[in-house]
Amino acid sequence: MKKVTPKILLNKKKSQEKIVALTAYDASMAATLDVQGIDLILVGDSLGMVLLGYENTLPVTMEEMLHHTRAVSRGVKQALVVADMPFMSYQADVDDVDAVRNGGRFLKEAGAHAVKVEGGVEMAATIKKMTDVGIPVLGHIGLKPQHVLKEGTYQVQGKTPSQREQLIKDAKAVEASGAFGLVLEGMPAAAAKEVTEAVSIPTIGIGAGSDCDGQILVINDMLGMNGNKTAKFVKAYASLYSQIEQAVQTYKQEVVKGEFPDDKHSY
Ligand code: KIV
Repeated sequence: MKKVTPKILLNKKKSQEKIVALTAYDASMAATLDVQGIDLILVGDSLGMVLLGYENTLPVTMEEMLHHTRAVSRGVKQALVVADMPFMSYQADVDDVDAVRNGGRFLKEAGAHAVKVEGGVEMAATIKKMTDVGIPVLGHIGLKPQHVLKEGTYQVQGKTPSQREQLIKDAKAVEASGAFGLVLEGMPAAAAKEVTEAVSIPTIGIGAGSDCDGQILVINDMLGMNGNKTAKFVKAYASLYSQIEQAVQTYKQEVVKGEFPDDKHSY
């Protein structure tokens, strides 16, 4: 069983083989995805909303990210494990000591193989300092969820020619800083295609059309665990919310009626 590395992802781009990525937040889900041959498992800071009940990703802490990254790393044998750097773990310090220290913690203390950082031109110098000392970095441009309070909402990017130009500048800056790949979030398919063709590192899209070098979805979204609350770009490959609803109702009724446990489920 060959472990996935940044170089393998780069070779996939070269040979036009699509990269398949998903998020996971715990060991059992990570192990399930790993056995299915998922290339990259992202411990996204989306866990703040998906698991922890925060309104957005901003409150997520280093300790929370480390805790979940450790769990995911324990479940994975093959996939590349990427940990999301939470808001204010890499932006506040002008000398980037925080970025390097916190990025390093994910590799040293949590078993991650790489970290993800949101931002383009404005984060390039930070990413360079991290990659220079041996921290593999996955960039993230387009819709940046950690900017939600500044933007006021989750806005699709790259709709105007000047926004598109900015995306290309961002992508090239992140590539030049030594990042091994780039998440493209929330942009028209045509803009993502342009970005993908402009860089030699692989792009992994979410809400960015089919021309990216790979795709990623939040695991709870693609399993249909959120009821009817889904964004346009999400495809639910299962309907776990309604299956859970049905299972819990049946269990409740059987317990109330004294039908569970029956003889078959008793010692
Ligand atoms: O936090 C996350 O899950 C992400 C993906 C949506 C790419 O950043």
